[in-house]
Amino acid sequence: MLKIGDIEMKNPVVLAPMAGVCNSAFRLTVKEFGAGLVCAEMVSDKGIVFNNQKTIEMLYIDEREKPLSLQIFGGEKETLVEAAKFVDKNTNADIIDINMGCPVPKITKCDAGAKWLLDPNKIYDVVAAVVDAVEKPVTVKMRIGWDENHIYAVENAQAVERAGGKAVAVHGRTRAQMYEGKADWNVIKQVKEAVSIPVIGNGDVQTPQDAKRMLEETGVDGVMIGRAALGNPWMIYRTVRYLETGELIPEPSVREKIDVCILHLDRLIALKNEHIAVKEMRKHAAWYLKGIRGNAKIRNAINECSTREELVSLLTNFAAEVEEKQQSSAQAV
Ligand SMILES: Cc1cc2nc3c(=O)[nH]c(=O)nc-3n(C[C@H](O)[C@H](O)[C@H](O)COP(=O)(O)O)c2cc1C
Repeated sequence: MLKIGDIEMKNPVVLAPMAGVCNSAFRLTVKEFGAGLVCAEMVSDKGIVFNNQKTIEMLYIDEREKPLSLQIFGGEKETLVEAAKFVDKNTNADIIDINMGCPVPKITKCDAGAKWLLDPNKIYDVVAAVVDAVEKPVTVKMRIGWDENHIYAVENAQAVERAGGKAVAVHGRTRAQMYEGKADWNVIKQVKEAVSIPVIGNGDVQTPQDAKRMLEETGVDGVMIGRAALGNPWMIYRTVRYLETGELIPEPSVREKIDVCILHLDRLIALKNEHIAVKEMRKHAAWYLKGIRGNAKIRNAINECSTREELVSLLTNFAAEVEEKQQSSAQAV
């Protein structure tokens, strides 16, 4: 079973941290679909240290989301330590995670995110300093390397372990790959074989069967799901059930998808405000509708709407339309 420090997860299925996505509204929804662990979107260490109001708001965690891992990013030891101390004392996060995977130039040019991957000694130094400063378990989420010539996943994970880190999550791509190409699960396996702390595998888990395959092929302790959960929190539930029983439960109906989308919207409104939430929800709604026939028209309309009422009525009308079509084609058979 996946156990990080003293925190025991009820299953090995982990929601990946995703900036602009994994706030409390989405995390709680995914949690209710059974995730063993949910990860919060990355938060700037400097934003925390300088008490930026928006950043501090990102630290909100609903008790029902727990266990939860809160990720900070930064390129300097001093501010990462200060931010970690703040998270340790002032939030109900269970785990403090350090981002060593973000590939975006805005982040790496400040020596943060994936830039850490070029130097295991620096990783040791920063992780040891953070571990020393806090009570909560410290983990690192990393990519396998900077580019194909600098794949130091094993050395980097060993540095985390030596420094007192309690787990590593490994995304099987290099920084140079961004989100292209295939995640290399072989390197994830090498990391698992090289350390004794828990390893969470990540990258290209698109179906419950992929999750099982990753666990079997690499031996990892947990499997982290990112993009496949976008607008699709039941991916988590289906994966948990598949791993536990071998049963592949069907995708939910359109009505169920829309109901969850509206629940997510209402949570986002409670967290932010209607104006911001509806705007943010446009991308989520498009994800919830992915794969449903005839969604192109409604997706355009969603991008225009600015109130809860408009969005809910678009979604419910669409669900009714789809159900009607399904009924008439069933009658025709
Ligand atoms: C929209 C988006 C935002 C992301 N933000 C973060 C982040 O804040 N921190 C992080 O460590 N990884 C972040 N990632 C990377 C994911 O956590 C994950 O490693 C990556 O998507 C690969 O997993 P997947 O194939 O299951 O999507 C993000 C990915 C996406 C698609």
